[in-house]
Amino acid sequence: MGEQVRSMVILISGTGSNMQAIARACVEQGWSARVAAVISNRAEAAGLRLAAEMGIATEVVEPRPGAGREAYDQELARRIDRHAPDAVVLAGFMRVLGEAFVGRYQGRLINVHPSLLPAFPGLHTHRRALEAGVKWHGATVHLVSAQVDAGPIVDQAVVAVQDDDTEASLAARVLQQEHRIYAPAVRALLEGRLRLQGRRVRTLATARDAA
Ligand code: GAR
Repeated sequence: MGEQVRSMVILISGTGSNMQAIARACVEQGWSARVAAVISNRAEAAGLRLAAEMGIATEVVEPRPGAGREAYDQELARRIDRHAPDAVVLAGFMRVLGEAFVGRYQGRLINVHPSLLPAFPGLHTHRRALEAGVKWHGATVHLVSAQVDAGPIVDQAVVAVQDDDTEASLAARVLQQEHRIYAPAVRALLEGRLRLQGRRVRTLATARDAA
């Protein structure tokens, strides 16, 4: 009897390196899953080409001038739902999503953020970490809730801040860690291995544990 093939839609806005890491892991590690589509809010996002090179269908959903966030979210949801995905993966998607959108995909919506949340939610995390003088910085994978960058934490990776770090050097090391932790978290979500207890997320080791 064949195993059920799960599907995901990945949302990007830029380079798409996290998207690429996830799509590669999916193929190379033989997940029982596929990337149904990569959707960008920006037609010029470099990640669209990376996705196309991997044979993944790409779509652009650009905001219409004058239309509000609600209208955008609705159009985005309409495009996502055509793929009936088991997971919606935010990979450098640089738009805030409204409550209705987040509610619609609750439990299926996952994000990577370039800081050790709850420190430094929002933008310019590396600059703010350097300004604050923290010695440890990093990345967080979390389930998405209505508050921005505040959902239950699935995994984190820590990066030591060096005396000579610049925003760029720190960002590069954090991004490497994002690539390391995001794919396994997405896989666990797709395989139904995440267990939420209050705000705490436990990742079960095997699909059998999740049965
Ligand atoms: C990543 O560092 C990701 O954590 C960040 O954007 C970058 C995208 O890189 N996301 C956010 O800041 C979301 N708030 P990528 O396009 O190469 O994956």
